[in-house]
Amino acid sequence: MNRRLTHEHDGALRLFFALWPDEATRAKLAALQEGFNGRKVSTANLHLTLAFLGNQPRASLARLEQVMQALTVEPFMLRIDHYGYFSKPRIAWAGPSSPPEALMQMQRSLWTGLLEAGVPLKPVAGFRPHVTLARDAMPADREMDGVIDWSVGMMALVESVSVRGGVQYEVIAERALG
Ligand code: 2AM
Repeated sequence: MNRRLTHEHDGALRLFFALWPDEATRAKLAALQEGFNGRKVSTANLHLTLAFLGNQPRASLARLEQVMQALTVEPFMLRIDHYGYFSKPRIAWAGPSSPPEALMQMQRSLWTGLLEAGVPLKPVAGFRPHVTLARDAMPADREMDGVIDWSVGMMALVESVSVRGGVQYEVIAERALG
């Protein structure tokens, strides 16, 4: 177990909501990282962010969990079939070329629920569903070989913890969809 390098800053935790892959999907996502340079995301950390919350007080955890539990979301299929690239942060990612409406709807409901619960959020320009594969990376030089059909059944509230050599994501709470 990696030792925490940072202590809670004024009782704040760095948090995000994510689709958290099952182990089989995680292994398939990890296989997509082959051939990328830069800093590859560790297999255990692979995920799809739904909402980045940044630093939030520990005292807000119960409220955040309530928002997650209150969502009405059915399980859905997510086809990861496309490599993408965010040029400014130099992030190479994999994602759906055509995101299912269920995913977009889920993200909107989550965001609305958070705002209604009074969670302070930085506005985001638009939701671009992606799984970061590598940072400080070059774009993929090939099309994806095959696709991953991710049967999305879980979402999670996750803490980003600084540890020696990077970050470690720790699931604080999770729920099954449906
Ligand atoms: P990324 O994978 O595109 O870097 C935990 O850090 C998760 O939250 C990552 O998936 C990361 O997205 C996302 N994240 C980190 N900082 C963010 C920010 N300032 N705005 C939006 N998402 C962020």
